[in-house]
Order: sequence, then C-alpha cells, then structure tokens
Amino acid sequence: MRADRTKWDRRYKSGDRPHDGPPSEFLTRWLPYLPRGRGLDVATGLGRNAVLLAEAGYRVDAVDISSVGLGLAGARAAARGTRIRWIEADLDSWVPPADRYAVVVMAFYLNRKLMPRLLAAVRPGGVMIVETHLRADREPCRSRSCVAWRFRPPEWRP
Ligand SMILES: C[S@@+](CC[C@H](N)C(=O)[O-])C[C@H]1O[C@@H](n2cnc3c(N)ncnc32)[C@H](O)[C@@H]1O
Repeated sequence: MRADRTKWDRRYKSGDRPHDGPPSEFLTRWLPYLPRGRGLDVATGLGRNAVLLAEAGYRVDAVDISSVGLGLAGARAAARGTRIRWIEADLDSWVPPADRYAVVVMAFYLNRKLMPRLLAAVRPGGVMIVETHLRADREPCRSRSCVAWRFRPPEWRP
C-alpha cells in the first residue's frame, strides 16, 4: 500500500536501515541443504538475503515497495558484482509466477495474505523460508501494532 512506500522510503532516506548487515544466519545455515535454481526474496529491504542467494548461484528476483531501499540494495549488489532482478512492487497485490522458484524467502516482513501466493510460487520440491518474530519472543512489544506483526504458530498452515 502507498503508506508502506512512503514510510519505508522515508526511513531509508533518514539513514534508518534495519537488517543492514550480514545475511540471515538462519538462511545461511540452511543454504547448503536447499534445492538450487531460481530464488525469490520478498520485502528484500537492503538485499542482504538476495545477495546471499545470488552469490550461491541462484537466479534471484527480489521484491520491495521502496524505491529508495531498492536503489541502495542495487548499488551494493552491483559493487559485489552480483546480478539480481529488482522488482518494485506492492506485496499486498503482487502475484508471483506459479511453480517458479526453488527457494522463496520472506524475512522480517509478515504479510499473512501473501503467504498462499508465495507458496504457489514454489516449484515442486522447492522450499519456502519464513523468518520472523514470534508472539513468544522474550523481547516485549512496545506498541499494539507490534503484536500484530508477530507470528503465532500454528496460525498458518499450507
Ligand atoms: C524489515 S525490512 C525487510 C528486511 C529484509 N527482508 C531482510 O531480512 O534484510 C521490511 C521491508 O518490507 C518492505 N515493505 C513494506 N511493506 C511492503 C509492501 N506492501 N510491499 C512490498 N514491500 C514492502 C519495506 O520497504 C522494507 O524494505
């Protein structure tokens, strides 16, 4: 939605850059066991996980709504000599191609309505990885909206 774009463009422009650092430890640990082929990273942010996949040999599509974030991510990936297809799109409505990806990653962005669409984009034998905060996290929520962003297993099953 447009408000997401405004909010995230502003955050990135102000220098507030969450998850700006090494790729997800969880994804890195699992990488050797994942099927190879095409990868999709949704809400890619500054692209750390997209770059990890690309450097491991995946053909990567990376989606985000923030043109500012994608600009930063693209510049960093290019500096490493990494090729990624950056897609500026709203994940509230974006529909990925069906049966396309060996690996789909959604990290620290929880969009429950998007999950069935992502699952449909996983090719047979592929894997979908979701890394996000849980309701059971020890760190307390400081806002009401924070609670909504925390996953409560088994609230969603494929
Ligand atoms: C916390 S960051 C994600 C970090 C990244 N996945 C990682 O692990 O490094 C959340 C991202 O979601 C993106 N985002 C928020 N709402 C969105 C929407 N409706 N469509 C697409 N991207 C969205 C933001 O622009 C931001 O880059």
